[in-house]
Amino acid sequence: MVSVSASVSSLWGFSFLLLPTSSITASTIFASKERSIVAAGKKKDKETIETAKLVARDKIPNPNSEIVQPNSLPPLVSALKTSAEQNAASFHFPGHNRGRAAPSSLVELIGLKPFLHDLPELPELDNLFSPEGPILEAQKQAAKLFGSSETWFLVGGTTCGIHAAIMATCSPGEYLILPRSSHISAISAMVLSGAIPKYIIPEYDCHWDIAGGVTLSEVEKAIRELQMEGQKIGAVFVTSPTYHGICSNVTDISKLCHSYGIPVIVDEAHGAHLGFHHKLPSSALQQGADLAVQSTHKVLSSLTQSSMLHMSGNIVDRERICRCLQTLQSTSPSYLLLASLDAARAQLSENPETIFNNAIDLAFETKNLIRNIPGISVLGTPGISSFPLIDPLRLTFGFWQLGLSGFEADEMLYRDHGVISELVGTRSISFSISLGTCRDHIQRLASGIKRISAASLSLQKIKEKVEHCGSSPFTDITMSLNPRESFFASKRKVAIGESLGRICGELICPYPPGIPVMVPGEIITKRALDYLLQVRNKGAIISGASDPLLSSIVICDI
Ligand SMILES: Cc1ncc(COP(=O)(O)O)c(C=O)c1O
Repeated sequence: MVSVSASVSSLWGFSFLLLPTSSITASTIFASKERSIVAAGKKKDKETIETAKLVARDKIPNPNSEIVQPNSLPPLVSALKTSAEQNAASFHFPGHNRGRAAPSSLVELIGLKPFLHDLPELPELDNLFSPEGPILEAQKQAAKLFGSSETWFLVGGTTCGIHAAIMATCSPGEYLILPRSSHISAISAMVLSGAIPKYIIPEYDCHWDIAGGVTLSEVEKAIRELQMEGQKIGAVFVTSPTYHGICSNVTDISKLCHSYGIPVIVDEAHGAHLGFHHKLPSSALQQGADLAVQSTHKVLSSLTQSSMLHMSGNIVDRERICRCLQTLQSTSPSYLLLASLDAARAQLSENPETIFNNAIDLAFETKNLIRNIPGISVLGTPGISSFPLIDPLRLTFGFWQLGLSGFEADEMLYRDHGVISELVGTRSISFSISLGTCRDHIQRLASGIKRISAASLSLQKIKEKVEHCGSSPFTDITMSLNPRESFFASKRKVAIGESLGRICGELICPYPPGIPVMVPGEIITKRALDYLLQVRNKGAIISGASDPLLSSIVICDI
């Protein structure tokens, strides 16, 4: 049997003949099949037309001449293939017109196939917002594989799924319980929904300078406090695993929340692979979460920006999710992204119990190689105390014993060894192991770290020790305006020295890992300012700030 991954990669493959632009623009795709299409656009009634058996004027190579039978393809991939093969006189968007007017510079880079399959919402391709055909079938197959009652495909990443999940569960004025270390999408979701945050301060490991997960007792405390104040809680939001792979006990958190009738949303951006191997932690849905949003494009193999939102149980109103997704997503979703979700699901479905065998073996092999390198710490041995469960495919190595920051070590790995990491921190670097990781790259990583270790240890005497930051920047938060109020408040820029004690007007977030240090509406503290200046000086990119160099800050002018 032809493997789905092989057929998909050839569908998107970039290895075909490139044509001069002149021949592209003059070409017509040839095909001789019958099909049912909507004449002259999707708004008109369906009618059956016989596609013209045109003289083969087409200079575009038929992209779909592989031996693979359409039936062996995942439903949406198959529909896209069939649609692209039609000999259509196309007057629809996008204006590159199935590659005929594709910009040559991009064609040179990626070939024509992506353009040929970059189709709009033709009837045979179904509609993302009222699916009845291949999208529905693809989403159903994803639901079956991931164990949800319903799955929605997303073209705006997990960011969009988090927005929808929070909007669907929290009405204006209701509370959202969430860790202070949540991804910025959770903060912007509160601007959209009007929800009010009740932050949980996550455990913070100063040694590693990373945040941990959320504990049951912290969730319980937050629920009790809000109930005592008579507040309505829309949802509890948990990030598991974190960017560093740290998993929270979603089972216990879900049981607790359900005893109060509160839905649990899990930001599982980094955990679409969880539950697919006995050495991997269970997925959020397996642990009882109501909504889980996964970046299929991170550890799994779909195209960047494609994600899935999964629902389980009946606490959350599915109609409201549908409305939120329709509000938030483009009316012209990319079928390349959607088909890539279908393809990634199919790739996993082929052998869900064993597909990660090799990746997990490589990850353990890497850890063992690097654990023995002098001066290198390995996260997870031991990790953050309350969170023993770490995704084995996320590797984080600390460099502080060598007197190096994560930024310095990362620069050396990149410059001298061509190794590109996933995430850099003040004291560590994280690496993602996936289905595409190969042994050769593992060896380059290990030998690069070995050389950095040897070089640094020989200089150690003259190097200063890299000091840890001392304490979490997130502990003393005073919210003066909620995220939505502050978003719409008038603003002005002040020099950083004048900002102390003012209401922050922008979301300031060192990236990676995308954890906000200041959220609009919060009083600016000395600790937060010191932390930001420190990470900026160490090389972090300050995202969200209007002045990334942080000489000025936007405040709410009230
Ligand atoms: C923890 C976490 N949640 C959500 C997101 C957003 O995911 P996406 O890039 O798919 O929108 C990210 C992105 O890095 C993330 O790290």
